[in-house]
Amino acid sequence: MCGIVAYIGQKNACPILINGLKRLEYRGYDSAGIALFDSEQNLNVYKTKGKVSDLENFIKDKNTEGKIGIAHTRWATHGEPNDVNAHPHYSQSKDIALIHNGIIENYAPLRKELEKRGFTFQSHTDTEVLVNLIEDIQQNEKVDLFEAVRIALNQVVGAYAIAIISKKEPYTLIVARKGSPLVIGIGKEGDYYIASDATPIIEHTRKVVYLDEEEIALVQRNTDICIKTIKNEEKTPYVHELEMNLQELEKGGFNHFMLKEIYEQASSIRDSMRGRLHPETDTISLGGISDYEQKILRADRIIIVGCGTSWHAGLVGEYLLEELARIHVEVEYASEFRYRNPIISERDVVIAISQSGETADTLAAIRLAKEKGATILGICNVVGSSIARETHAGVYTHAGPEIGVASTKAFTAQVTVLTLLALRLAQLKASITKSRFKELAIELESIPEKVKQLLKNDEQIIKIAERFKDTRNAIYLGRGINFPIALEGALKLKEISYIHAEGYPAAEMKHGPIALIDEEMPVVVVATSQRIYEKVISNIQEIKSRKGKVIAIVTEGNQQIKDIVDYIIEIPCTEELFVPLLATIPLQKMSYHIAVMRGCNVDQPRNLAKSVTVE
Ligand code: AGP
Ligand code: GLU
Repeated sequence: MCGIVAYIGQKNACPILINGLKRLEYRGYDSAGIALFDSEQNLNVYKTKGKVSDLENFIKDKNTEGKIGIAHTRWATHGEPNDVNAHPHYSQSKDIALIHNGIIENYAPLRKELEKRGFTFQSHTDTEVLVNLIEDIQQNEKVDLFEAVRIALNQVVGAYAIAIISKKEPYTLIVARKGSPLVIGIGKEGDYYIASDATPIIEHTRKVVYLDEEEIALVQRNTDICIKTIKNEEKTPYVHELEMNLQELEKGGFNHFMLKEIYEQASSIRDSMRGRLHPETDTISLGGISDYEQKILRADRIIIVGCGTSWHAGLVGEYLLEELARIHVEVEYASEFRYRNPIISERDVVIAISQSGETADTLAAIRLAKEKGATILGICNVVGSSIARETHAGVYTHAGPEIGVASTKAFTAQVTVLTLLALRLAQLKASITKSRFKELAIELESIPEKVKQLLKNDEQIIKIAERFKDTRNAIYLGRGINFPIALEGALKLKEISYIHAEGYPAAEMKHGPIALIDEEMPVVVVATSQRIYEKVISNIQEIKSRKGKVIAIVTEGNQQIKDIVDYIIEIPCTEELFVPLLATIPLQKMSYHIAVMRGCNVDQPRNLAKSVTVE
């Protein structure tokens, strides 16, 4: 989720805020805005879809005076990117301005309640609900802004990093966070610099206070920061000294965006489930497609179209949807589908999967299917993207901006959304029992924690990368739902280390590829405990008997396989259907380390673009 910058002090806030937004541009965004308090107590808000430079042009002839202000780069989650949905958002009275990173999950019921109390809304965002909730509380409880924010945040479900200013308290800045980061920089002249991370702050000061979960801070010039939790417990600010340089800070201390995004997967998978998975009440709610659930259940088939990694996610989706919801699924390369003159009817549902939402072949494929009468759904990561806008409905993955060209967190978020969809449809069809649904829902909810555990140690993976970094070829094998993971693992290695790699169904080896096996050939096998585990072991033995080197991804604690293969990478035990969410991660990391060891440009591999908008 994108960027927040705020300033309070004796300097002119506007240039500080605009430069701060520029420092946060690397995070990817679709809109930008700023709110400033001038000396006549006017609270001026300027915002626009587009780049920070567009905002700069927009405010050229405006009153940008003021020594306190807030500024925002938006990564839309609710309400497409446009000027009205951009932040800051005014409250109804225009006395308060607020900026927000994150998702207010319960914005819809809160908005309904506020509408009953006479509030009207200008935007389609979840954020505008929060600023009006704060105003409503301040008006009714007769409390100051700090207390109104605290009360409001106790009613909010979701993730937030917010900054708020109010006409009624012109020398006060309130900030708070839960699930989205926020840093307070302590200036040298009694001023304060606030931002989503330290990159906009480091040029002004190295003294920072990191807000912790569910903490609110009241910030005033020449005054110590006052921090309390939303439960009203006073907290003492702990001042850190920044050591990292600017370049390191942009990547959150990681050497590359790809590595940062690999390590974001516990939170991005959690965000893709946020507000949608409720095991405690046996419910899964995918609001974006709720009106189309019956259409999908009555469909002759689901056709999934995508390219590259998104196509691999579609293959995983096929296993999930057929296994759980017993719906016929076909997965197509969008580029092939669009030129094949496919047979499509009104009884077909087409699901387009695309991180960028701009892939030309996928866009063309859904336009063709739409012309032929199919219902078109989307699973995209970029809100308001071309593909998202062309579909009848869809589910956003909420993985946050993915900067590295090689897709990682977007893939696992796509698979998570497909898992939620398959479970929801299975529940509606009663194609699985209630107890099986609950069992799967509870296990799915535990995946982010298992990913976190999985991300802990790189040692074994770095050792394997060191051993095979100079190989010229590699083979990846998987069976069942792990076959697409073999394809995805091979693609990761290919696209960032330029080593030739192929993924196959493990049983396919006998039909030709086994001729490639010799002592020079590393073979990565997803060999987690599953229904056909014994068959995978046989495949491994066929490879070993021809001197191939086998790297096996196994369920942790599997002692049996240790004596058969050359290297093992353990992943936590989980439902067979959820193994792709875990098994992919060591393959991402192995490719990353090999590419770094080979001196490749990991974030911008040669010949590749993040979004292939050409055919
Ligand atoms: C994956 O690592 C590649 N960057 C590429 O295969 C990508 O998945 C493909 O171009 C599809 O992009 P999209 O998801 O944005 O449509
Ligand atoms: N959910 C808010 C919106 O869609 C904030 C998104 C962000 O983090 O930038 O406007």
